[in-house]
Amino acid sequence: MSRTVYVNGEYLPEEDAKISVFDRGFLMADGVYEVTSVLDGKLIDFAGHAKRLQRSLDELEMAAPCTADELLEIHRQLVRVNEVEDGLIYLQVTRGAADRDFAYPEDAEPSLVLFTQAKPGLADNPVAKKGIKVISIDDIRWGRRDIKTVQLLYPSMAKMAAKKAGVDDAWLVEDGVVTEGTSNNAYIVKDGRIITRQLSNDILHGITRAAVLRFAAEAQMKVEERAFTIAEAQDADEAFITSASSFVMPVVEIDGAALGAGTPGPVATRLRDIYLDEMRKAAV
Ligand code: PDD
Repeated sequence: MSRTVYVNGEYLPEEDAKISVFDRGFLMADGVYEVTSVLDGKLIDFAGHAKRLQRSLDELEMAAPCTADELLEIHRQLVRVNEVEDGLIYLQVTRGAADRDFAYPEDAEPSLVLFTQAKPGLADNPVAKKGIKVISIDDIRWGRRDIKTVQLLYPSMAKMAAKKAGVDDAWLVEDGVVTEGTSNNAYIVKDGRIITRQLSNDILHGITRAAVLRFAAEAQMKVEERAFTIAEAQDADEAFITSASSFVMPVVEIDGAALGAGTPGPVATRLRDIYLDEMRKAAV
């Protein structure tokens, strides 16, 4: 069955959903995006994603295509018409279509596209029971990774390098320390302390990260926000990643070195349970 996709005010069958060849998202990656998960037909942390979207738009001096309330309604409508129980909603805003020029156009209308991906059993992903393996790779992305732009070529290349190496994902390393995963934030756990890189322009300010660190603090877990090396990570008791699509996902191997027993650790497992419980309760 064809999905219904939202494009600039219309709900259309995916085959009919079209964007101009002059759209600056296509020509220049001049666009931003958000990914929100859906569990039991409800949106997880919509408010967090809407807030970060506005920040990305502001940083790029890009007009908002509509209000946050309207965005919520579009998300809900797509979930309804596509009958998504568990899955993801991708939202993309671009600066719109204009004759090609590096300077921002003065009069372009922003483009807004949303589509769903059904992922039955998203929260019961069996991979979470065995954990994922990662390799490290140089982080050669641009310097504003805090803006969630659609320039995703390097993360795709890093993901392909991971696939070729027979593992699940890559952790990106700059100046000898880990920035984040290809599409997730990275954490290690040592002697009961959770260590994750501090927020800056070097990483995306994960919406899942914010919630997980809040739950960790509420559960009296110790959190240190600082950078760490791959060697420190390989020597950690456990590791994990967070994102809207993976929630909290244990990492059991880094560059061929197994962590601890090579199975998901208790901190990651507990945080995943708390995150899913609490976020389901707060879902809209
Ligand atoms: N990725 N870091 C990067 C580079 C990301 O692309 C993402 C999200 C995250 C985690 O952010 P959040 O917790 O808000 O999802 C961190 C999404 C899921 C994606 O591109 O599919």
